[in-house]
Amino acid sequence: MQAPSESELLQLRLSAIRWEADGVQSFEFRDVADRALPGFLPGAHVDLHLPNGMSRSYSLCNDCAETDRYVVAVARDAKSRGGSIAMHDTLRVGQLLKVGRPRNHFPLDEEAAKSVLIAGGIGITPMWCMLQRLQALGRDWELFYAARGRQNAAFLRELRALSAQHPGRVHLHFDQEQGLFDLAPVLRALPAGAHVYCCGPLPMLEAFERLTADRPPAQVHLEYFQAKDAPAAAGGVQVELSRSKKVVTVAEGKTVLDAVLDAGIDVPYSCMEGICGSCEVVVLEGEPDHRDSVLSDQQKRSNKTMMLCCSGARSARLVLDL
Ligand code: FES
Repeated sequence: MQAPSESELLQLRLSAIRWEADGVQSFEFRDVADRALPGFLPGAHVDLHLPNGMSRSYSLCNDCAETDRYVVAVARDAKSRGGSIAMHDTLRVGQLLKVGRPRNHFPLDEEAAKSVLIAGGIGITPMWCMLQRLQALGRDWELFYAARGRQNAAFLRELRALSAQHPGRVHLHFDQEQGLFDLAPVLRALPAGAHVYCCGPLPMLEAFERLTADRPPAQVHLEYFQAKDAPAAAGGVQVELSRSKKVVTVAEGKTVLDAVLDAGIDVPYSCMEGICGSCEVVVLEGEPDHRDSVLSDQQKRSNKTMMLCCSGARSARLVLDL
């Protein structure tokens, strides 16, 4: 896997910023010469390279039939590592940004007889894109969307319009009015064969994983937008970079990504917490200690790839295709 070259990154103009809810803004990007953008499917995200040097991944929330724009919605989180604050407080309409091509670790199964989407807070962003696609395909769907209060719920106007057209399919829940959202009854009522998707805060995703553990894995889909596990930082792992013909040892407190970058190897990365998939590399030998939230359990067991930013090794040595 090579780092994306400058030519692989898209140079896009921030064409609009829109208020979506308290603390949530959407950001629309278009090509500088109004050319069509690389296509995407629901669940895809893009890496935004911010002017302050940060790179952050955000789910695309607009209709994937649109070829002329990418839209992401971002909640300003004062406790985050600064990406959302930089987006809200420093970006201005008209600015040019480098944007990675869309990648997708949260695909929608378009053939499912029924799709049930569960969103918590800003986790609505990939779901809104999925919903527009399911509507266009004429598929059966239901949405459960929990937010702290109605003032914090993004896309509320659009969802209410959809609900008016399709009564009984959009279920809104506001914790401040109804108490904490309980996933259990929703999951108990899932019809056999339904595919279920969840994106939201950590406690919601952990409950979702627990409550869907007995369902066929192919019908259960989730996306984390914050780290689930702490990164492997014990160090001591020897990493052979097969194409570069280098061997590096990961120091205690460092990640494999740190060691690879320190060795002068240019690899892509973005979130640095195992949620975006940018730093995925092919493992040629050795057994990774997977700490990411991108690979499925089956993919983790196959040990074919790993995320450099957070995963370590169970074996003393790893050989990577770098
Ligand atoms: S940088 Fe995002 S998963 Fe590693």
